[in-house]
Amino acid sequence: MTEDIRKGVAGTAFVVNHSRTKLPEVSQDIYAHLWVNQESVEMWDRFASQVYPNDDANLCSRTRFFLENLRDFISKNPDPAFVDLASGFDNYPFLVESACRFLEFDCEGTMAYKRCMVDQWMTEGKLPIRKVEYHPTDLNDPFQRGKMQRILAETIGNRPSMVTMQGVTYYLEKEALDDIFRLLAAVQQKDSLLLFDYWRPDALEYDTMMRFKKFLEEDLGCAEQKWNLFDRSYIRTIPGYEEIESTEIAELERRYSTTRRLQQREKIPGFYSVLRRT
Ligand SMILES: C[S@@+](CC[C@H](N)C(=O)[O-])C[C@H]1O[C@@H](n2cnc3c(N)ncnc32)[C@H](O)[C@@H]1O
Repeated sequence: MTEDIRKGVAGTAFVVNHSRTKLPEVSQDIYAHLWVNQESVEMWDRFASQVYPNDDANLCSRTRFFLENLRDFISKNPDPAFVDLASGFDNYPFLVESACRFLEFDCEGTMAYKRCMVDQWMTEGKLPIRKVEYHPTDLNDPFQRGKMQRILAETIGNRPSMVTMQGVTYYLEKEALDDIFRLLAAVQQKDSLLLFDYWRPDALEYDTMMRFKKFLEEDLGCAEQKWNLFDRSYIRTIPGYEEIESTEIAELERRYSTTRRLQQREKIPGFYSVLRRT
């Protein structure tokens, strides 16, 4: 694992994958284990003991929510496109069977590592064959977002599309996220979907989140975290979309899991929104 993807926010992509392997009946991600190595196990153990012991329950319900939405979207739409922004090492193209277009965007090191490993595992028969486009992109960079918009416009065209952002809205600069919503509205067709998770402005009142901030800064070497936090009043101002579902992690746990570890207020403040292009 190269240093640039082990350190910083990119390193969280390893932690979340190990979480996803722990309750496979909930996540239904049968390939997450491929990304787990000794280093990510050690990172996860430090995270569980220093920050939060329930990230497995959290990530498995979160993954299942996006997976169920993707399955539903693909079943209802011919020739669809699935766009995964800040995809990290998630495995959605391999968890659905469809002639769907798959596009992923994340930092350069993460995309290079993912492309290399996915190609190897498809050759070895560990992953089913899928055609996935990996686009190295810093979502905070306006020039790179301009390039992303051109790629999306060209590939999506008149197709129905589903765009997801999982585990990233809070890390992005506010201007960047505003601009991403603007450019997605420009490329997505009517009735297409946009799904993301987010943290609300009271996130820093949670003890878990204070510990997480410290972990990011001290263990993963991130610069001091200024999270981009918002609530439904911001979501209502996103031009070109209407919210068709608003939910939170406690509800997702009840929907998909027999565990009840995320029902208390000490839990992490994970909220979820599904928007429809109007
Ligand atoms: C917590 S991980 C989530 C990964 C994946 N969506 C998942 O659920 O497994 C956060 C991801 O956001 C990506 N990320 C954070 N800031 C980014 C930026 N400015 N541009 C592109 N990707 C970014 C990281 O590289 C990392 O892969």
